[in-house]
Amino acid sequence: MSANYTDKHADFEQRKKAHIDLSLDPRTQAQTASHFEKIKLIHEALPEINLSDVSLETKLLGYQFSSPHFVSSMTAGHQNSKVINMRLAKAAAKNNWLMAVGSQRRELTDKQASFEWKTIKSQSPKTQFVSNIGIEELIQQPVSEIIKLTESVEALGIYVHLNPLQEAFQNLGQANFKNGLAAIKKLCKASPVPVLIKEVGYGISKTTAQKLILAGVEVIDVAGKGGTHWGLLEGLRDQSQSGLLADSSQAFKDWGFSAVESLIQCKALTKKNSFWASGGIRSGVDSAKCLALGARAVGVAQPLMKAAIASDEDVLDVMTRFDYELKVALFGVGVSSVKELAKKKVCYVNGTI
Ligand SMILES: Cc1cc2nc3c(=O)[nH]c(=O)nc-3n(C[C@H](O)[C@H](O)[C@H](O)COP(=O)(O)O)c2cc1C
Repeated sequence: MSANYTDKHADFEQRKKAHIDLSLDPRTQAQTASHFEKIKLIHEALPEINLSDVSLETKLLGYQFSSPHFVSSMTAGHQNSKVINMRLAKAAAKNNWLMAVGSQRRELTDKQASFEWKTIKSQSPKTQFVSNIGIEELIQQPVSEIIKLTESVEALGIYVHLNPLQEAFQNLGQANFKNGLAAIKKLCKASPVPVLIKEVGYGISKTTAQKLILAGVEVIDVAGKGGTHWGLLEGLRDQSQSGLLADSSQAFKDWGFSAVESLIQCKALTKKNSFWASGGIRSGVDSAKCLALGARAVGVAQPLMKAAIASDEDVLDVMTRFDYELKVALFGVGVSSVKELAKKKVCYVNGTI
């Protein structure tokens, strides 16, 4: 093993550990609006159903889950990730939630790294996974190598994350996104499993969504602002003397679209195409608002990371809380299923967004 190789992976390990630690630091949670407070669910004092009638059953990527909630992509490929991911995977299996894995980038240069997921899949065979890779890797690597990433977790689909601002604040001047759409098109054509696209906390506009749909993307996860803020987080990692990245990231505190804004912009598209929501989802009521605005599934990241650092029970408790809150929200607007929620007018925008 060359010194370069070792350094590269040591640096990777350090960065991933810092991401986890900093995601729990309140300074990396967006201080600007997630806009959930502007969406008013219409309370139904006469729901004419029993709470026990409410079902969260949801079909995603051809598989029947017990909830529209899923574990948003987080971490992978380093020392601490094994325990965290095993906890998340076991809890996801127990609650029958879908789990999106963290970036599988390391597997592209270190074949040993796929053992993490192979072990987790073999020890928690009931967990259904979605793979994850960044757009920069997709642009640079042969598409066959990207598709191979789905094998270790027998993935139902593959997420490609779009993170231009995170990269800009992580790697000074080295955010290489040229030819991204062509690379996505190529993957959609070649992939045996559906291709999903997500942001990491800045949302997706209608124009971008239209391009992605034309490219053959099956699911767009808008991953909006209002939760973990990757610009601020990368800014805090900036140890440079000038503090250029740290200072500049502050100017982008309110950049991007919340999940609410993205879903409203894409409203007409959500009727035909599959939109998922994430970014700043902190309760099952937030989830109900996303589903009412046209999302078909809702992802949770930071609250589950916080729980996974603590214990198996904490992860189960967070999942139970999100599902119970969503169930009560459905009951509170008088619908008994997620499908019915999507069909009925159960919310309005209170004020301007
Ligand atoms: C510790 C941590 C690591 C993450 N790593 C990834 C990743 O590898 N790939 C990815 O697409 N998103 C990653 N994300 C982003 C989340 O999937 C999500 O889009 C973002 O954090 C917003 O959701 P939140 O507000 O619930 O945290 C990560 C999030 C956290 C908290």
